[in-house]
Amino acid sequence: MRLSASFEAAMASSLAVCRLNMKGRGSLLKFLQKVDTFLHRTIGTNVVAAQEEREGCKSLYAVEAERQEQAERSVLISCHSRTNEKKFLNFLSRYGDINKYFFYESYGMYALVEFTNQESLSSLFEEAAIPSVSHESIVPFKSRLLSLRNLSPMESPNHQVGQQCQLQTSIPINKLIQRLSREESIDQQITSLTDVYQLTEENSRLRFLVCSLLKDIAAAYFPDCTIKAFGSSVNGFGKLGCDLDMFLDLDGISEKCAKMPRSGLWLEYQMKQAISERAVTQSILSVIGDCVDQFGPGCVGVQKILNARCPLVRFTHQPSGFQCDLTANNRVAIKSTELLYLYGELDPRVRHLVFTVRCWARAHGITSSIPGAWITNFSLTVMVLFFLQRRSPPIIPTLDNLRDLAGPTDKSVIEGNDCTFVSDFSKIQLQSNTETLEKLLCEFFEFYATFAFNKMSISIRKGKEQNKPEMAPLHIQNPFESSLNVSKNVNVTQLDRFVAVCQESSWLLQQRETSTPNEGKAPTPWGLAALLMPSKVAGIKGRKTRRREPASERIKSLLESLKTTN
Ligand code: GTP
Ligand code: MG
Repeated sequence: MRLSASFEAAMASSLAVCRLNMKGRGSLLKFLQKVDTFLHRTIGTNVVAAQEEREGCKSLYAVEAERQEQAERSVLISCHSRTNEKKFLNFLSRYGDINKYFFYESYGMYALVEFTNQESLSSLFEEAAIPSVSHESIVPFKSRLLSLRNLSPMESPNHQVGQQCQLQTSIPINKLIQRLSREESIDQQITSLTDVYQLTEENSRLRFLVCSLLKDIAAAYFPDCTIKAFGSSVNGFGKLGCDLDMFLDLDGISEKCAKMPRSGLWLEYQMKQAISERAVTQSILSVIGDCVDQFGPGCVGVQKILNARCPLVRFTHQPSGFQCDLTANNRVAIKSTELLYLYGELDPRVRHLVFTVRCWARAHGITSSIPGAWITNFSLTVMVLFFLQRRSPPIIPTLDNLRDLAGPTDKSVIEGNDCTFVSDFSKIQLQSNTETLEKLLCEFFEFYATFAFNKMSISIRKGKEQNKPEMAPLHIQNPFESSLNVSKNVNVTQLDRFVAVCQESSWLLQQRETSTPNEGKAPTPWGLAALLMPSKVAGIKGRKTRRREPASERIKSLLESLKTTN
């Protein structure tokens, strides 16, 4: 069995390389694909099936380890937009087999190239030249961000050049609305929205590569550090173009405590002491921020925001186009990321609904990229999770349920907060709830249109409304630091807007309009597409005559309450 599995792996990897080199030669590629499929079918079918099953439920930890390893074998190369793809690959193959590559545009054309072996990078670095600049000085910091230079004349316009560029930003909302209007059901509209907006495989790889490039800078001071992505880049709810939240993890360094040796003697490092953890975090981020600013190729607009509740360094990584936030000592946020990822993996409806609600909220200005009294994407996600816990039967378990299922290795206490929850997905039993996405979206709006925000708090730990412990307009219990409110920043005006748009959206969704074929013209926005248009949702009260069937009594009373509130 071991023999055939390794044979299969060897064949599969050589096929992957062939596929890369034979790109464009259709028939040969098809033939190779058939051989590949044949091998998978005939050799160890059960192994493959079992593996696929396991792969379907990979923990975030496993996914990240794999991505980090890929990133360490990768380089980012700036190249001319008319670079000949075949020549480019032939040139780079001199350094070793290429496992994966793609081209994309961000302030110019770039290629991400992942080699099969990390050693290929060493031979590439040996040959790479230092740029010769005549009137400027250069900072002699070498990184895995390179430029392809070409002495031969440019390819003529007729020569087959250029390559397919991967899109690294999401499509504009008006295009999305057009696309959704062509779908046949609201369920299809919701899944289509997720497909369009979610991070692509390539974009995820690029995010991990940026973490890895940043690690190379931080490693000058802390050779054992890692830089981990967290937040929407990895929790499954990231939209193309979302920021890249990074965490400088130094625990590998500080965790190693002395084991009492038999001789009674041991050595320990002498280390500086500081007045607090926060002070240490601030000084580390300050130094790393300076390094990023002064030595980091492609890193621009570096700001050190060290007095924030969670100190951070913010900058733009131009070659990827990512807005980056680097933090340290932010373990609770890492746990929240793991939790959100787990919920998203449990049932596909979770991700679809979160994507839809996030997109809807953005379209109506309920969330914003500028900090302020707005509801954040994180708060909104917790609200969706809470709503799904309140379904009958619940679609996802409460955080207390997940904690009760945890094994000994799952135990996690961070700064006195119990952050324990199960990591083994197979221990989680879900109840049978078959509600459609359309129903859930509609009920989401109704749920929050009538929620007793004045008295109650939202808690995904308990999965039940709790009495509000403080007078903030919106109270969403922090999942792991239960005394904290994640929506403390939200003011009454923003909460009222959220409730009003929920009421109006709920009403609009119940109108059951469907797509009307419109010969030659773009279809009229309907269903979710209409919901994403502020002009359609706002002021629907004045357009009651357009509705096709009477609103339910419940909706009528909602509109009455809206009138009263206004
Ligand atoms: P977008 O960046 O808006 O796409 O979403 P995001 O989920 O990445 O949000 P953000 O960048 O604001 O925050 C990154 C991560 O930090 C979140 O996913 C959470 O894990 C965590 N986080 C953000 N805000 C809070 C908060 O108020 N409390 C806690 N405990 N964690 C937070
Ligand atoms: Mg983020």
